[in-house]
Amino acid sequence: MRTISPLSLISAVAALVTLLMVLSPSQALASPVSSVKRATSSNYWLANVKRQGSVAFGSDSSYAVYRNVMDYGAKGDGSTDDTAAINAAISAGSRCGWGCDSSTVKPALVYFPPGTYMISQPIVMLYYTQLVGDALNLPVLKATAGFQGMAVLDSDPYDSSGANMFTNQNNFFRQVRNFKIDLTGMPQTAGAGIHWQVAQATSLQNIVFNMIPGSASKQVGIFMDNGSGGFMSDLVFNGGNYGAFLGNQQFTSRNWTFNNCNTAIFMNWNWAWTMKSVSINNCGVGLDMSNGGSTNILIGSVVLMDSKLTNTPIGVKTSFTSNSAPATAGTLIIDNVDFSGSTTAVAAADGSSILAGGKVVASWGEGRQYSGTSGSRVQGSLAAPSKPAALLDGSGKFFERSKPQYENMPASAFISVKSFGAKGDGVTDDTTAIQKAMAGVNSNQILYFDHGAYVVSKTISVPNNIKMTGEIWPLIMATGSFFSDPSNPQPVFDIGKAGQSGAVEITDLMFETKGPAPGAIMLKWNMASAQGASGIWDAHVRIGGSAGTGLQSDKCSKDPSSTAVRTGCEGAYMLFWAGTQSSGVYLENTWFWVADHELDLADHNQIDIYNGRGVYIESQGPVWLYGTSSEHNIFYNYEIRNAKNVFMGMIQSETPYFQSNPKAPAPFVPQRPSDPTFSICSTQNPSAPCYKSWGLRIVDSTNVFIHGLGLYSFFENYNQDCVATNNCQQNMISLEGSNSNLNMYAVTTKASVNMITLDNGIAAALDADNRNVFGATVAYYRKGGSSTRDCDDEDDEEYEDDEE
Ligand SMILES: *[C@@H]1O[C@H](CO)[C@@H](O)[C@H](O)[C@H]1NC(C)=O
Ligand SMILES: *[C@@H]1O[C@H](CO)[C@@H](O)[C@H](O)[C@H]1NC(C)=O
Repeated sequence: MRTISPLSLISAVAALVTLLMVLSPSQALASPVSSVKRATSSNYWLANVKRQGSVAFGSDSSYAVYRNVMDYGAKGDGSTDDTAAINAAISAGSRCGWGCDSSTVKPALVYFPPGTYMISQPIVMLYYTQLVGDALNLPVLKATAGFQGMAVLDSDPYDSSGANMFTNQNNFFRQVRNFKIDLTGMPQTAGAGIHWQVAQATSLQNIVFNMIPGSASKQVGIFMDNGSGGFMSDLVFNGGNYGAFLGNQQFTSRNWTFNNCNTAIFMNWNWAWTMKSVSINNCGVGLDMSNGGSTNILIGSVVLMDSKLTNTPIGVKTSFTSNSAPATAGTLIIDNVDFSGSTTAVAAADGSSILAGGKVVASWGEGRQYSGTSGSRVQGSLAAPSKPAALLDGSGKFFERSKPQYENMPASAFISVKSFGAKGDGVTDDTTAIQKAMAGVNSNQILYFDHGAYVVSKTISVPNNIKMTGEIWPLIMATGSFFSDPSNPQPVFDIGKAGQSGAVEITDLMFETKGPAPGAIMLKWNMASAQGASGIWDAHVRIGGSAGTGLQSDKCSKDPSSTAVRTGCEGAYMLFWAGTQSSGVYLENTWFWVADHELDLADHNQIDIYNGRGVYIESQGPVWLYGTSSEHNIFYNYEIRNAKNVFMGMIQSETPYFQSNPKAPAPFVPQRPSDPTFSICSTQNPSAPCYKSWGLRIVDSTNVFIHGLGLYSFFENYNQDCVATNNCQQNMISLEGSNSNLNMYAVTTKASVNMITLDNGIAAALDADNRNVFGATVAYYRKGGSSTRDCDDEDDEEYEDDEE
């Protein structure tokens, strides 16, 4: 999350203009109900498993986590107005809406059986809500002819004064999956599918938007004004003026199909957006990122990769020119995009051609590119790096796999951890029960964590072949002396063993600590896996700031005036570790969040949680990270070391708001060779804010591809004066040792004087040379060299970490 930015306020004006267009008065003509469909029961396991989840830290023992909209009166028959019933299903149990800000103790998993649900006003998604349609037979949410309001689904409503229900960049913990949203019954002058104004730990998956096609259509599939996300995948947009109208700090999207939209994607504003596997068919324009014009471009950057346009005359529209402003705004990377179906691949705002279509474009960009320490403005072809086969699928795209939903598994295949004696009550030590459960399911079964809080006091050895999922992010909470020693850290979930090969799938779980656990490695993965055999999707690590963690604002509130370290406010040792023996590592939409503010107690104050390390990768690959974020860790948010064949897109980080009080790495000391010592700070200006967390370190690694980075520093000891002057910290990205075939695209940093720092503290790219709409952006940073280096070289011994 982060606090309000001047940029998003400016861009919001543009968003609001379009918003008013969407909401302009309709000339509604009631369309007859053609067929009567009734909501039906289904074999989808999610509708049929025994429900025994409960909230461990709530006050209401009768609170229902799971709700079927039929139980609240929805009919799904294609004629009854189901709006009130669905909103009742969502809101039952005094949930978190107006004036609440946030709450983790009122989650709701709301299920929709197959059927056609008539909707006349927005369905309001309260905080911590998942809306899940039947995966076997997608329910239809059909807007009535007279629909009134912003969108069929609304993740963050506005009141009549223009105030939001939730602060957009703190609007966490949502899912919407398995729906058809149908606007075709509305007049073509109005209608939006989803108002998706969200932040981290949110996802849209497997949704079809049906809109009226044609040049007069004003309909929009997704309307996104702002936020700080986020991830979405597997979406189909049919018809409409804009398939997706987008504005957000940063986002990753994957596997989108647009058919017959006037403009498939309208980018209203952003800092960074990575789009992969986009198919655009029979549209006028594929991606319009020209907003603001060449004197005031509002788009920070877009990476468009592994995509294809068919019968779409203009691929990408841009306002970037040889002297457009801000300097690097409108940064664009095109990586492996098939424009054979476009006349013009990249067009200026007036439609004139910058890059002709009719071909596959391997690597093209606009912005500023670097090699070594020299940067230059580019609008043209980029060097096309060689991509190792291990990272690619059979068609030459970077491998991807959507979150499994197990839609073809019967409910009987889901085995509850409670059947093995786990309590999930936030108090009982469930270590033994969970370990028994892990051994007790076979490869045709799925281990199910009912909602609750499962306390573990020792490592859970996750077998090398297991699938597990949870009921709206049940908490796995590490606690106690076993996890207390930073000089002897222990994994909480130890996924497979070094030397083993297997298939592990983890979805919809949340990992936390209960009290300080400075010796806990939250997730460790050190087994081998074939491409696509394993993965972690929509599972998150959240340290402190919420009920039950004991690391809340009553104890850990910020105090910038004091140099004393708050005792008892340590988080974990490390959030994710891909070990030397790991391969086939796949993460998608995982948020590694050390809380910067309180989610449950009424003050919602900012808090100091001291957490050692974020995401550490020393795998020989392949490794794929889609839509991950790692925030507020003391040493680093991401580190890639002695690693090989790593793809990440996009990654986002934030420096702890309290630094440099204390100066990194305090209150900890380096424990292993991979811990940065911050010794380069002694070579830099002593008054520079150098002792701050690295957003990203890459050390002695080969074949690293990072498509989209947003690494931010917003504070110096909670003071934000440095945001405007872009010097909250001295360094953000460190490239050390002998990296080769390292490729970073659309590198955005905020308020770091040096964007990229080389060995011995030499700056490769400066913020001042690369100003963008809010941060600073380097379009392409490349360190070439052969990719044949063997990372198991004995020479590397001195750099290797101790393995327990
Ligand atoms: C988000 O967008 C809305 C609609 O344009 C605007 O009213 C609001 O001020 C924006 N919020 C921020 C923080 O920019
Ligand atoms: C892409 O999304 C579509 C629509 O949800 C889905 O059918 C398809 O399986 C997805 N493709 C991949 C590679 O996940």
